Amino acid sequence: MLKIGIIGVGNIADEHIRGYLEFPEQCEIVALSDLSAEKAEAKRVRFGLEGAVVYSDAERLIADAGVDLVSIATPPSSHAEFSIAALRAGIHVIVEKPMAASVEDCDAMLAAQRESGRLLSVIAQNRFRDDLMILKEVLDSGLIGSISHVRIDSAWWRGLPYYDLWWRGTWESEGGGPTLNHAIHHIDLSLWLLGRPEAVVSMITNVQHDNAEVEDLSVAILRYGRALAQLTSSVVHHGERQEIVIQGERAQIAQPWSVAADSAQPNGFPQRGGNRELVTEIEAVAAAHRPLPHVGHTGQIADVLDAIATGRAPAVGGEDGRSAVELVTAIYESGIEGAVVHLPLRPDDPYYRTGTLVERAPRFYRKRESVYDQDGAIIVGASTV
Ligand SMILES: NC(=O)c1ccc[n+]([C@@H]2O[C@H](COP(=O)([O-])OP(=O)(O)OC[C@H]3O[C@@H](n4cnc5c(N)ncnc54)[C@H](O)[C@@H]3O)[C@@H](O)[C@H]2O)c1
Repeated sequence: MLKIGIIGVGNIADEHIRGYLEFPEQCEIVALSDLSAEKAEAKRVRFGLEGAVVYSDAERLIADAGVDLVSIATPPSSHAEFSIAALRAGIHVIVEKPMAASVEDCDAMLAAQRESGRLLSVIAQNRFRDDLMILKEVLDSGLIGSISHVRIDSAWWRGLPYYDLWWRGTWESEGGGPTLNHAIHHIDLSLWLLGRPEAVVSMITNVQHDNAEVEDLSVAILRYGRALAQLTSSVVHHGERQEIVIQGERAQIAQPWSVAADSAQPNGFPQRGGNRELVTEIEAVAAAHRPLPHVGHTGQIADVLDAIATGRAPAVGGEDGRSAVELVTAIYESGIEGAVVHLPLRPDDPYYRTGTLVERAPRFYRKRESVYDQDGAIIVGASTV
């Protein structure tokens, strides 16, 4: 029976707790920690975690609770410190996205993971979704041919109070705006689906949130050989209409699911839907998808529990989390410096280092309000998908 600790019991911690509670034969939550012990106690009671001990600091939980695996669900600026401390204490780690606020911090986490021989998994719960698995399975089948263009709309909407929460809206503690904190889901998916781009160019701005230093909108172009992708990262999109549209040589596929395959007339003009055979073949690959037994955070937790039990690597490891932070960093670097940024980001690139973003990023606005807690439900994932 694995003993589980949760560090940071705010909004997203609920998804972790619910996930672990799905597997009572394999694990038990024995410890919770938060800056606010009352908050941790309230969560303990709400989820009926009878035997769990509440700690008011994470270091004590790591040192004293005797846990085998911790979920770290604190603000991004503390992910590296807590992950490294847990790994060094011989504890497996699931850490929320973004893995850390710099590639340098990600590398320190990876080094701690290698030295400890323990497992490090970075939350990427969208990889554990049937619709996105279908997109990947069809793409991997090769049926659409070589990729020409990809449009990724990581479209979210957040009202002004969103950035009033104490740790949001500053480069120092949130690490960035929606490019880092929201679109990282799609950025991770782009890496999973397409691999690492060779070059990035972007613009970043803040159009609507006058209580945040950070961007609320960025638009990036990513180059993969001759293919291009367009990535919008936003918290200003009403309706949160999120889409991934992949144009291949022979067909287009998209999430939410759709497929189209034109053929050419003798003059090259399109015969709309002309390649019906290919559409049928692609639909058959999509229909052959076997639904996942567990989805989202619970799916990723199931994977980690199995990885620990069998001694294999998790489906989403520290390298994956690092790649996502690297691509986000390249988008910021391009937007701030007005330059094309080439990947991989080398350790001698100033933006590799912790602190450069904080030093050089524009303060779009001064953060005015700061509240410790807020009422209201949180929505995990876009409200439309
Ligand atoms: N995977 C997703 O879909 C998803 C969704 C929302 C948030 N997140 C991520 O989860 C993390 C937390 O976000 P949230 O929305 O739950 O924030 P939150 O503010 O609701 O919760 C964070 C909690 O961590 C606690 N905390 C802060 N510093 C701490 C410390 N030093 N020691 C112990 N506890 C500490 C706070 O008191 C708070 O209760 C962030 O990295 C965020 O990006 C992920």
